[in-house]
Amino acid sequence: MASTGPLVLAVDQGTGSTKALLVARDGQVVSRGSAPVSESQPRPGWVEQSAEEIWESVRRAVADCVDPSLAPRVTGVGLSTQRESLVLWERRTGRPAGPLISWQDQRTAADCLALAATGAGPAVRASSGMPLDPMFSALRARRLLDTHDPDRRRSLAGELCLGTVDSWLLNRLGGGPGDRAGAGEHLIEVGNASRTQLMNLATRRWDPALLDLFGVPREVLPRIVPSRGPFPAVRGLAPLPDGVPVLAVMGDSHAAMFAHGGWRPGVVKATYGTGSSVMAVGEGGDVPGLCRSVAWDVTGPVLAVEGNIRATGRTLGWLAGLFGTTTPALLDEAAETSLGVHLVPAFGGLGAPWWEPGATAVLSGLTLGARRGHLVAAALESVAFQVEDVIAAVERATGTVRVLLADGGLTRSDRMMRLQADIGGRTVSRSAEHDLSALGAADAAGLVAGLWSLADLEARPRPSDDFHPAAGAPDRAARRAAWHRAVGRSLPSTG
Ligand code: G3P
Repeated sequence: MASTGPLVLAVDQGTGSTKALLVARDGQVVSRGSAPVSESQPRPGWVEQSAEEIWESVRRAVADCVDPSLAPRVTGVGLSTQRESLVLWERRTGRPAGPLISWQDQRTAADCLALAATGAGPAVRASSGMPLDPMFSALRARRLLDTHDPDRRRSLAGELCLGTVDSWLLNRLGGGPGDRAGAGEHLIEVGNASRTQLMNLATRRWDPALLDLFGVPREVLPRIVPSRGPFPAVRGLAPLPDGVPVLAVMGDSHAAMFAHGGWRPGVVKATYGTGSSVMAVGEGGDVPGLCRSVAWDVTGPVLAVEGNIRATGRTLGWLAGLFGTTTPALLDEAAETSLGVHLVPAFGGLGAPWWEPGATAVLSGLTLGARRGHLVAAALESVAFQVEDVIAAVERATGTVRVLLADGGLTRSDRMMRLQADIGGRTVSRSAEHDLSALGAADAAGLVAGLWSLADLEARPRPSDDFHPAAGAPDRAARRAAWHRAVGRSLPSTG
């Protein structure tokens, strides 16, 4: 452990847990902490979390990570967060009006189809960078306001705050509501704002036409700030002393990209979380199947193309629940092949590159020889095939992808990584750091603090394991063709 010198505290608030890291000036992680976060599914397709529990998880992860003897050395905080989830709270009390609605929630699927039927999709995509889909926050914002402020009176009067998880945590980190200078200011980081589908990608401001279309008054929204802030200093985050500044904020997927060294062109990464995000920085143009968003604004705004897959880790979690086991135990049961079984995990529709909210989950190719292990293999293959489908779209935007940089929970499975290399026919380089989003938040915060430069970050060793493809090209093409036939069964037009 580094015995002297400044430390950066990184907090990654993800869907399933909050993680905290203390990072020293040489880039070494000197301590870690974490706290789980629960979610509930009050109705099929609905996914909610408690905003208060999320805040508590941040406090617990920080207390777990930071020994009180190290607290005085913490020079600043970097924050990365789950994106697109929304919480509405009362400005005066700081109390949430109801549960946070998760990015996974599908309650707006019908609203989305109705809006698409009006022909609004292309204009929304042109200004926000995103297709109409329940994953993005805009329709969720309308639903939350329709529930808690149907006539928008309280929103227009400035009594309510609508925000993403970074907005919510910045409010709490700054000490919540109050009359101190800067306290309680309602803020959102630009990368997180771009994922709401309410921000104009060109101006990086709330888009009046989008606000009008989705029925969201400007008054209820936060002020958009760059990833380097300025953000409030922390208060009441034991054992940190009050006044430690929040130096950088990013969306979790964006932070993982930053930690991969993704500020360089040609880097393509996949994060294997609850869902997956395949991302590359660059303007990339408007490529069907992909979103465009602001990756970050640390030393200037950087755009990214991204494809989001709804169910990857979640697919394994679902299967583990079905079999009454855990995901790690389930991974040990995977058979060598899926025996022709395909699982298309369209539990809440399909994300990139299909963007089909009406798709349904399909299990196909079952024979009497199919066993549990074959289903597990099919679940793993579904992850690899989906990631590969998105990479094919990314290649249209950025050119050939020779190496895929991988991070996230499911990358701990060597089997998953080998499968990804075989199905894609390219090397997969797995980061040795499991908490890459937190590391990216630390990298950015240290950059803002002047603890290191981009050149220092570039020179830092980033340990990884490489997995090289084994299968031949014809086998790969045949397997992908069979997968696409299964996807065809899940899409509404053919299903
Ligand atoms: O877009 C949703 C994403 O930010 C959530 O990531 O890692 O919490 O599943 P994760």
